[in-house]
Amino acid sequence: MRRCGFSAGNGRCRSAAASFRLPLHEPSKAQVLASDGNTRVDREAFIIVLDNARQESYHGVVSLTRQKVRSWERIPNAQPPIAIDEFVGCEAACKRDPEFQAALRRRGITDVETVIVDPWSAGAYEDDQGRRLVRALTFARFSPTDNAYAHPIDNLVTIVDLNEMKVLRIDDYGVVPVPQIPGNYGADDTKAPVQLKALEIHQPDGPSFEIDGQSVRWERWQFRIGFTPREGLVLYTIGFEDQGRLRSILYRASLSEMVVPYGDVSPVHSHKNAFDGGKYNIGALANSLELGCDCLGVIRYFDATLAGSDGSPVVIRNAICMHEEDYGILWKHVDFRIEQTEVRRSRRLVVSWITTVGNYEYGLFWYFYQDGSLEFEVKLTGILSVGALKRGETSKYGQVLNADGLYAPIHQHFFNLRLDVDIDGVTNSMYEIDIERESAGGHNPEKNGFYARATVLQRELEAQRTVDALKGRFWRIVNPHTMNSVGEPVGYRLIPGSNTVMFADSAASIAKRATFATKNLWVTPYAEQERYAAGDYPNQHPGGAGLPEWTLANRSIEETDLVLWYTIGSNHVARLEDWPVMPVMYTGFMLRPDGFFNDNPAMDVAPSHHHGHGHGHVHVNGQGTSHDRKS
Ligand code: NI
Repeated sequence: MRRCGFSAGNGRCRSAAASFRLPLHEPSKAQVLASDGNTRVDREAFIIVLDNARQESYHGVVSLTRQKVRSWERIPNAQPPIAIDEFVGCEAACKRDPEFQAALRRRGITDVETVIVDPWSAGAYEDDQGRRLVRALTFARFSPTDNAYAHPIDNLVTIVDLNEMKVLRIDDYGVVPVPQIPGNYGADDTKAPVQLKALEIHQPDGPSFEIDGQSVRWERWQFRIGFTPREGLVLYTIGFEDQGRLRSILYRASLSEMVVPYGDVSPVHSHKNAFDGGKYNIGALANSLELGCDCLGVIRYFDATLAGSDGSPVVIRNAICMHEEDYGILWKHVDFRIEQTEVRRSRRLVVSWITTVGNYEYGLFWYFYQDGSLEFEVKLTGILSVGALKRGETSKYGQVLNADGLYAPIHQHFFNLRLDVDIDGVTNSMYEIDIERESAGGHNPEKNGFYARATVLQRELEAQRTVDALKGRFWRIVNPHTMNSVGEPVGYRLIPGSNTVMFADSAASIAKRATFATKNLWVTPYAEQERYAAGDYPNQHPGGAGLPEWTLANRSIEETDLVLWYTIGSNHVARLEDWPVMPVMYTGFMLRPDGFFNDNPAMDVAPSHHHGHGHGHVHVNGQGTSHDRKS
């Protein structure tokens, strides 16, 4: 069994085993922190092996340095993520199934090759959970380049066993006419495009960042870049140089899990359960930005090297994009009495990647600012996950998008970020800050009083928190052993953006499996093996794994190495304007220094040079802006 697992050259098993490995099993945090940069560590690979013939999966750690298997065990009660070649195999299995073909014919589709099949995960809804299952959804193409998502074949679910690559069952809930109106979005499909004048970003002296392998220095920031198939971009050992000393902020930051729950109660949409991290390996679905970059300026790319399902290397060229952006005003003051103006422009460093998960695109962006702030932002775009209603029908659970009954159910997008914070060292504590109205009485004679009240979070179960915009709620992570100039512990703030939690009932399968999305913030003491908010293998897992399981121990989170698990939620009540491709919707959060520095750390930013007119640099009110559109 063991030999079968990792030895790709073993003839007996090669044809039966589809294996994919997470390329790196990271060295321990203690080892990394103790390293002076020249320390040699064992190179280790984390491997998942799926033995299709035996319908079993295994995972293990292999030391590449020592050529030894360090650990090996069967994965119980769950399935590894769905690999890209299983997408392809699933579609082919559906197309050759006579019952599937018959279901298409009932909908007037005679050429099975014109449809596309998306393998949505089966979740925990099927009786036979020991099988490796997907619930495939089908869409039609009316020409080879047609946008199939404009033509959903609703009420048709195909249950496919991915180990056997065969259709087990067709659930046909009745024919809904397939919407016919095209939803094509190519440049050739756009009539009379609106043309603007050229806008060019020049960096004649090159970028301001320096790169050494995976290490990046920019302004006063230092960090390292990594990439995993499951999480995509990972940032390591983020620190800010303060008076010649590099001060740590984050040891590791990554997207730990994602889920998209749908609100529609119909049998098709109610079973949708897209855990894009642990079920589809969102990193392996990263765009190659070689094919068209989305950024301006001087850009440095990083490739991602992953493993294909046969174990051979797969390189995603230009998976990560790094560049600088002008971001308006950093700080400004006008002293009108002496007619002095001081203003500094803000420059931010952007490290980003974009992933395509079937119909949706997610852009995952980290921004580094000169005032010590860090921002994470998700850009949601792509194509809505649609169904169809009969012509003229409407539904309280979603929005009809066109006259043919194209229909987008209400849903939510959740992103859990695992933030291994190290604020000026590993020993940290956590406070929740609410703004409170002062009580009435002699101490508050004008009744105007209000103040920011800090409450320490002592244990895991009391550190499962939600946002509260009306209390101005934020969280502060401090190092209780390092004081700033006013004798208070140095810290960073976690500042929510717009946010929400899961609306599904707590008894719903999706709530049990994606419990991380029922709260916005979880805090745990650092534990090396706790990496993914919904557990190691959310695919077909019945629920309860990950954060809800670990935090039952109710461990102390005071004065220890902390990990924050911040869940960002975005409600998507679809609009007509989200079709055919959705304009970017933004969501995210910020980490801002809070008594970490003794004053504004961006006072040392140099004033910008003024560009004269006449070189096309600045034409705000000049004649250059008033031409008519010619299109
Ligand atoms: Ni959406």
